[in-house]
Amino acid sequence: MRTLKDGVPSLRCGMIGFGMIFDETYRPVFEHCPSSLLSFSGSPFNAELCAVATRTGSRAARYLASKTEQASFQNFSGPNAVSRLLASGVDVVCVATPDDRHFEAARDAIRARKHVLIEKPSVLSLSELDELTRLATENEVLAKVVYHKLADPDHKKLRTLYRDGVLKHVNNGYCSLLEPKSISGGQFAEWITGRNPATYVAVHYLKLIDFTFGPNWSLDRVSATGQRGLVGPADGPTWDSVQLQVVYRHPDTREAAFDIHTSWVTPDNFPGYVEQEVQFRFDNAVWSAHQRKRGVELTVENRTPGELKNTPNYHYNGTFLEPWGERSQRGYGIEVIERFFQEAAFVEFDGPSEQRNQRLAQMRTLTYNDITADRNCVAIVQSLEAILARAAGGAPGCLVKVNGSAGGLALYEPGNAKPLVLYEGRV
Ligand SMILES: NC(=O)c1ccc[n+]([C@@H]2O[C@H](COP(=O)([O-])OP(=O)(O)OC[C@H]3O[C@@H](n4cnc5c(N)ncnc54)[C@H](O)[C@@H]3O)[C@@H](O)[C@H]2O)c1
Repeated sequence: MRTLKDGVPSLRCGMIGFGMIFDETYRPVFEHCPSSLLSFSGSPFNAELCAVATRTGSRAARYLASKTEQASFQNFSGPNAVSRLLASGVDVVCVATPDDRHFEAARDAIRARKHVLIEKPSVLSLSELDELTRLATENEVLAKVVYHKLADPDHKKLRTLYRDGVLKHVNNGYCSLLEPKSISGGQFAEWITGRNPATYVAVHYLKLIDFTFGPNWSLDRVSATGQRGLVGPADGPTWDSVQLQVVYRHPDTREAAFDIHTSWVTPDNFPGYVEQEVQFRFDNAVWSAHQRKRGVELTVENRTPGELKNTPNYHYNGTFLEPWGERSQRGYGIEVIERFFQEAAFVEFDGPSEQRNQRLAQMRTLTYNDITADRNCVAIVQSLEAILARAAGGAPGCLVKVNGSAGGLALYEPGNAKPLVLYEGRV
């Protein structure tokens, strides 16, 4: 693959899904290209948005209408939108559909030999992950997932301190991520039935924990409970808030437990809007962090806390007037997307074509985003979804044992010694 645009190699990109996250993180990347991306060897390349596939096409049409020059992509909608996008000549596909619609889109894109970047959570079950992994190997393409919190400088420092032995032996911790009601009641209303906020956002912290404190430990068990009644009926399958607990075992057999609380029914005028904090406790240390209380507190008459945030996180994503006069939009949420394009460009452009497979293998070893390193997160998500489904079906309080005598994921109901095996293979 070597399409040239203005003499520079170009990755032709397709977006499946064109909602909130496109607007926040992908749009700035595509709008700043060409010109800003450099490959690992320092050569410029383009990442060009060439095609979009969505359910209705209306948001993409509005976007196209609002742009004068840069934007010109094929806008596919309806039931065959994905296959038309895949046939349109794109090299790379980004999957940003609702979380229970990632698998089919990613599978079809990989089968069509496209490099794929999937929004978190990658997929909802280990069998789906196995299938994508197998297909990516067979079709010699990258299959990666976006977890932007790993690129947050505070989280990079947390991992550095742990790796360097300054923070010793994590024992337990909590993470909390609360989204406003407007998310569950407005933005996501089309697909929210049967869904829960933990699959949607606890995965950020699941990956942070797994990546930061692993890989020399093993996932042991998963439990969860939650509340219903605001987004949907109190006895229905749609969850307002979820409390998830995951337990790992260190090689020295000591356990580590993490509680992750999520909600998408926080009041819309809550000053945090999206509220995120963590605390991790070690043998010799405590790390406490707040995603947005990083020093800035802002009040503007009639504009905070809705349009502008009281305690903004400009590190994730911000629009700036640079000291040198340019306008920019940047932050780790955007960097992590650019980084994926650099990895795909490395495979395709950064060396002789006969060494492509070596470059591909090298990029597949990156455990921060490769789907092969997403097994624990997907195992937790699959367990969580099964536990919530059992609770909605009248059996609350289930627990999933990981890699026990009954199989890779075995769900135990209170009072029933015989487990339901969710995944037979080793996690
Ligand atoms: N990295 C982050 O912090 C972050 C933040 C928000 C969302 N996300 C993830 O991004 C994904 C999308 O979330 P969002 O907030 O943009 O949602 P959204 O509801 O705003 O947009 C969803 C988009 O997917 C399209 N879509 C739905 N079903 C489709 C289908 N079958 N085929 C093709 N297109 C389809 C819709 O038309 C829409 O364009 C989710 O997986 C979510 O977890 C990530």
